[in-house]
Amino acid sequence: MKILTGIAGMSMAVVLIAAGCKTSELKRTNQALDYCITQLSKTIGTLHDSTRMPRSIANGKTDWRLVGYRDWTSGFWPGILWYAYEYTHDEQWKQQAARYSNTLFPLADTAAIDHDLGFQVFTSIGNGYRLTHDPTYRSILLRTADTLSKLFNPKVGTILSWPRAVPGVDWPLRHNTIMDNMINLELLFWASKNGGDKRLYDIAVKHAETTMHHHFRPDYTSYHIIVYDTATGQKVKGITHQGYSDSSMWARGQAWAIYGFTMVARETGDTRFLDFAQKVTDVYLEKLPADLVPYWDFNAPDIPNAPRDASAAAVVASGLLELSTLLTDAAKSNYYRTKAEAMLVSLSSNKYQSREVNNALLLHSTGHKPNGGEIDASIIYVDYYYLEALLREKRIKEGGMKK
Ligand code: GLY
Repeated sequence: MKILTGIAGMSMAVVLIAAGCKTSELKRTNQALDYCITQLSKTIGTLHDSTRMPRSIANGKTDWRLVGYRDWTSGFWPGILWYAYEYTHDEQWKQQAARYSNTLFPLADTAAIDHDLGFQVFTSIGNGYRLTHDPTYRSILLRTADTLSKLFNPKVGTILSWPRAVPGVDWPLRHNTIMDNMINLELLFWASKNGGDKRLYDIAVKHAETTMHHHFRPDYTSYHIIVYDTATGQKVKGITHQGYSDSSMWARGQAWAIYGFTMVARETGDTRFLDFAQKVTDVYLEKLPADLVPYWDFNAPDIPNAPRDASAAAVVASGLLELSTLLTDAAKSNYYRTKAEAMLVSLSSNKYQSREVNNALLLHSTGHKPNGGEIDASIIYVDYYYLEALLREKRIKEGGMKK
């Protein structure tokens, strides 16, 4: 073999080192994905009824708590199965994904009880349609988008997130919108591009604009809920339901904002949303602890003893990988991508992966701290966004990410 010397030799060495780094980086991602498949196989072995979806495993327990299709988390398990099929190309995962997805079909034509239809149907049947182009899935998605759009209040300019009693919100005089609702706009964008009414696009954009104007404090930290006057559309107040206080930064709420405004920037190509996604991201990144997994609320009074929320880290890792692909500023793009990769390294460590503790993918998430629900637990949506982030990371490393 000829030994290269001088500039040519040095640049060849740089290329070889870079190629080596890329290969070992991809190896890490694939190892984490293989770990996910091992854990999912364990869970599948314990389930016998495709109408019951795994939702969470309480701290210290090993069995999944199962829920029916009306629960807001019902789409994540079928969505995880579609991602397992996407990674492995194994027909057995596809069959399981289809079985569980079918359970959700009634949501398309049942009056919406809240904004969560996107979480339920787009994570599951949306991924199913992306991977199979099954026309039944397309029809379900279009009908669900129409059902969700019925909660839009044009006076306010947002979807009514919770059409039921909420502490601090005297419904029906008051209209409420929660930060989480941003994620469900993706179903409306999809429908408007796939045969649905153009109005669905306008609703999604209006909701995002109104949220951008009213849902944030001057430092770009998010309120959980904004209460509006139903009749006049005026903002009344910002409050919390799942955070520590009305003025605190609830970790998952900020994570939904990062992921949601990034998705809206992708769908609209509008730089207002792209700029805003960076602002809500930067305040989150500035305040993270060293391992990049936040405490459940950034203002929790008992930090550093407060419970963590790995779910926020998984949602943000996935969102930041996408954000890095939307930016033309190479330095900023690299910054977000490097942060996302570091979050995935942290989540893939023995501190956060469940491994032998239980059959979930990750430990240490917090669902609803104020009401004592799912604290320091394994939760299905965490696993969904962790798996999604790993697949996005793999796609980026292999040379291109297209959603
Ligand atoms: N969307 C409900 C939650 O984030 O807990």
